[in-house]
Amino acid sequence: MMKSVRLGIVGVGGIGSAHLNCIASGKIDGMSLGAVCDIDSSRIDYAKKVAPGVSAFDDCSEMFKSGKIDAALISVPHPLHAEIAVSAFEAGLHVLVEKPEDISVSAARRLNAAAEASKKVFAIMFNQRTNPVFKQAREIVLSGRLGELKRSVWIITNWYRTQHYYDSGSWRATWSGEGGGVLLNQAPHNLDLWQWICGMPEEITAFCDVGKYHRIEVEDDATIFARYKNGATGVFIASTGELPGTNRLEISGTRGSLVVEQGRAVFRRLGFDEREICRSSSESCPSSDHETEVYQPKGQGSAHAGIIQNFCNAILYNEPLISPGAEGINELTISNAAYLSSWTNSAVRLPFDEELFDRLLDERRSASTVKNADGIQTHRDYSERWQVRF
Ligand SMILES: NC(=O)c1ccc[n+]([C@@H]2O[C@H](COP(=O)([O-])OP(=O)(O)OC[C@H]3O[C@@H](n4cnc5c(N)ncnc54)[C@H](O)[C@@H]3O)[C@@H](O)[C@H]2O)c1
Repeated sequence: MMKSVRLGIVGVGGIGSAHLNCIASGKIDGMSLGAVCDIDSSRIDYAKKVAPGVSAFDDCSEMFKSGKIDAALISVPHPLHAEIAVSAFEAGLHVLVEKPEDISVSAARRLNAAAEASKKVFAIMFNQRTNPVFKQAREIVLSGRLGELKRSVWIITNWYRTQHYYDSGSWRATWSGEGGGVLLNQAPHNLDLWQWICGMPEEITAFCDVGKYHRIEVEDDATIFARYKNGATGVFIASTGELPGTNRLEISGTRGSLVVEQGRAVFRRLGFDEREICRSSSESCPSSDHETEVYQPKGQGSAHAGIIQNFCNAILYNEPLISPGAEGINELTISNAAYLSSWTNSAVRLPFDEELFDRLLDERRSASTVKNADGIQTHRDYSERWQVRF
């Protein structure tokens, strides 16, 4: 049995450098740094400063076949995720891919098929799944304590970004470089949690407003309306243009309501099922007798390091994955459907027409303007990675 996992990092940029520091400083039990890869030589220089003597590559396929690594962590711009992850699986490696899985459901499908065929471990960096408050919210919903779901509303507008941020990398906020805006870059964490807690909708209608607050060609403000199989509805609002912004998830069910905000979950639990009272009560407007359960965890959970540790443990000891890679397709289905709805000005039923989506995305990608980011500091070396901002 393998005793230790040698990790190769593809893309040592903003988040990749944080992952590099985490591994190189020995924070993950059972994992060591095997090699790094970046097409930008200044990032290789940086990696060598952090991890002197580390093997470095400018072509990931060379790293994959070098024999120096057992697993790959892929932290390059999203349109490259599936292609690079597929070649890592073909080289017999385990894969942890950054979110989103890629930019289209069809690409995620290809990656899921390659992962399945390889029988290797496949995880995705949905680090917010480790946050105790979201774990608790999920437990309350999945246990049935909230009853049947009626509605969920997530206002996630505290992903504020300036024009400077959008100008800080030539791939950012372009159809060709990034494949989308706030729904593809910032909101995947929340879209994933939304489906993780409330399940997948059946129909999506959306407004995705392009360049509403910034000089960019993709959306920086989006409102998604969802309808679920049981008739429940959902609203998801994301923006990078609001300050200070809000992070509030409210879910109502037949047995009460649940609000996640300010780092705590507040469950107002009815002692009965509202549907039964509605049918049987002789009062017109009965009081809503309920208990209030407040769940306020101390920490934010193990975050990125927790997902990497879990990935390592899955390889070494078959530990169940917190965030299986194949589940990356779910939030991408919601964001792709939101684009399709916005582009075609219509409601989109799931599963949607992937060929139509790919064609309309390609049109935007070929008309995309590549930005000139000369003279702009492209990479920030993250001194800390935050998990959830409430
Ligand atoms: N989970 C999180 O909290 C989190 C946070 C930030 C970013 N991300 C995700 O990580 C990915 C990278 O984002 P970032 O902000 O670090 O971007 P970045 O631009 O700072 O870094 C990307 C790096 O990839 C390198 N690169 C590009 N093409 C490559 C290739 N073919 N082979 C090797 N290296 C290549 C670039 O030179 C760069 O150093 C994105 O998909 C983003 O959504 C996740």
